[in-house]
Amino acid sequence: MNKITSLFEIKYPIIQGGMIWNSGYKLASAVSNAGGLGLIGAGSMYPDVLREHIQKCKKATDKPFGVNVPMLYPNIEEIIQIIIEEGVKIVFTSAGNPKTWTQHLKDNGIKVVHVVSSAKFAMKAQDAGVDAIVAEGFEAGGHNGRDETTTLTLIPIVREKIDIPLIAAGGIATGRGMMAAMILGADGVQMGTRFVASIESSAHADFKTTVVNANEGDTQLTLKELAPVRLVKNKFYNDVQELYAKGPSKEELEALLGKRRAKRGMFEGDLIEGELEIGQISGLIHDILPVQTIINNVMNEFQQAQKETQQFQF
Ligand SMILES: Cc1cc2nc3c(=O)[nH]c(=O)nc-3n(C[C@H](O)[C@H](O)[C@H](O)COP(=O)(O)O)c2cc1C
Repeated sequence: MNKITSLFEIKYPIIQGGMIWNSGYKLASAVSNAGGLGLIGAGSMYPDVLREHIQKCKKATDKPFGVNVPMLYPNIEEIIQIIIEEGVKIVFTSAGNPKTWTQHLKDNGIKVVHVVSSAKFAMKAQDAGVDAIVAEGFEAGGHNGRDETTTLTLIPIVREKIDIPLIAAGGIATGRGMMAAMILGADGVQMGTRFVASIESSAHADFKTTVVNANEGDTQLTLKELAPVRLVKNKFYNDVQELYAKGPSKEELEALLGKRRAKRGMFEGDLIEGELEIGQISGLIHDILPVQTIINNVMNEFQQAQKETQQFQF
């Protein structure tokens, strides 16, 4: 037991990050059934689709699960209303001001966690009254902060500034990574990239294979002028780089990005023109596994690492 397992009433302090186009009820319920905390990623769902996923998740698991709400997406008020109506007990907010929704969610008996990428925003989230914070380093897949602070640096700095439970994210896919994050001061971990390459994720099979084949150096954080995002270096990424060489305006970048790129890449499997969001740790992922196996592997390795650290003698 620790602060995170007791906060969420789960067995292991492992959270599956909300991930657009990857984390529907199948992934979330599998993670919760395996003893972690699964999150449905609302960012890519219309309100009625989200309601359906929440209802199916309730049927697929009797364990706690949550919903991730990136606050920059439209329909936010409707999404929050559905979460409350459906009796969801845990919400992870991201990409927005934690003051906007935290109190309203808490007034409705919901535990609120906010995702940040800097110590400054961690303190703001704590002031807004959240129950825990996810601090996400530069290595992470998906949208990210502009400051390029790595998980190794971010976690101890945030730990120094806040008292509430802290969850580390970015570059963690193994039990050793989890142990490292917890030694740095985290109470739990949030993993994204590792769960993309799971049987239960809703990613297109070709995107899962891309993740497994990715090597160190195959991803890059880009589009900082819009919303910084870590992508696989495919043709679309190269097109972005070519445009950067011409010193583009924000509007030109927006025009190149267009609409539906993320869905096209990760959900429909267009590996050429699609946006393929994934973390640096994809270089360490070599197989697509069932969620139960992923969590077993992480916990076995964590316990092995725990024994090894006890043998250190200097
Ligand atoms: C494909 C993908 C989509 C993501 N979408 C979201 C999202 O919708 N909301 C969010 O808060 N974080 C999102 N993230 C970030 C994850 O929730 C998680 O914090 C991150 O993946 C952790 O770093 P890792 O990829 O190194 O494990 C996404 C990450 C990936 C890989």
